Amino acid sequence: MEFKRLGNTSVKIPAVGMGTWEIGGGLTPDYSLDEEAIQALKVGIELGMTLIDTAEMYGRGHSEELVGEAVRAFPRESIFIVTKVLPENLRYNELIEAAYRSLKRLNLDYIDLYLIHAPNPRIPIRETMDAMEKLVDEGIVKFIGVSNFGVLQMEQARACLSKTDIVVNQVEYSLIERRIEKDVLPYCQKNKITVMAYCPLGRGILPKNQFLKEVGLKYGKTAAQIALNWLIQKDEVVAIPKAIKIEHLRENAESTGWRLNKEDVELIEKYFR
Ligand SMILES: NC(=O)c1ccc[n+]([C@@H]2O[C@H](COP(=O)([O-])OP(=O)(O)OC[C@H]3O[C@@H](n4cnc5c(N)ncnc54)[C@H](OP(=O)(O)O)[C@@H]3O)[C@@H](O)[C@H]2O)c1
Repeated sequence: MEFKRLGNTSVKIPAVGMGTWEIGGGLTPDYSLDEEAIQALKVGIELGMTLIDTAEMYGRGHSEELVGEAVRAFPRESIFIVTKVLPENLRYNELIEAAYRSLKRLNLDYIDLYLIHAPNPRIPIRETMDAMEKLVDEGIVKFIGVSNFGVLQMEQARACLSKTDIVVNQVEYSLIERRIEKDVLPYCQKNKITVMAYCPLGRGILPKNQFLKEVGLKYGKTAAQIALNWLIQKDEVVAIPKAIKIEHLRENAESTGWRLNKEDVELIEKYFR
């Protein structure tokens, strides 16, 4: 596994991690695939995808429970857990309580990275960021960040922080969703904020793409691996594909440690413009 620096810190995180949307359910819990999900997460960790992204929203907390169960067998410091607070829980006390509920479901005593899942214009950002900083002070959260924030929203959030800074903006980014290239990506690259690319496989569309399959032939790689490698060759970008199938996990883990050449990057970008 290839590692990248987390934001403006000296901590290293895997360039490709694991998403968990629909692991443990979507908007409601689903217990029917628990064993398969735990097994998939364990295999992914063994393959080096020790960065795991979950949220209190996923399966209404059941995703966090499954992640907690899967990581139990591994040394805590070898795993990097990301979870997110819902936009309706961004009031000071509600955010603190949400973080403790997540910790309980994860069965952990700290969260590596806690993200605001999406902005909530009805709640003053200062109140939210004060609560985020309080969690860092208490030691139950190591790093803080945001998700689905634009440049202005990142600036407003950062202006409220006195002791720390956001290290991540988790946003949709893939060959079929490149809107962040206009402003969010350059801002993050300039300010050393990691862009954690969600839906990096276009929700499963890109692995089926014929053009990417053809590019892959040259490298002995699949379309999914080309799509992920294209993301992680960019400064400050890591990706969190979700996979429950073991062959998908293996492929995703092997999307790092090599590079597309410059000409192919240009060709791919032209094709998906
Ligand atoms: N912050 C946010 O607002 C937000 C929003 C959306 C997503 N996310 C996070 O980002 C993660 C990833 O996004 P996503 O799950 O929506 O979409 P995605 O990762 O782009 O795509 C997931 C789909 O691709 C398939 N897949 C994975 N690896 C593959 C491979 N090597 N070859 C072929 N197919 C493959 C999976 O199949 P199998 O599962 O059957 O293996 C699944 O159907 C989420 O799980 C979540 O953690 C965050």
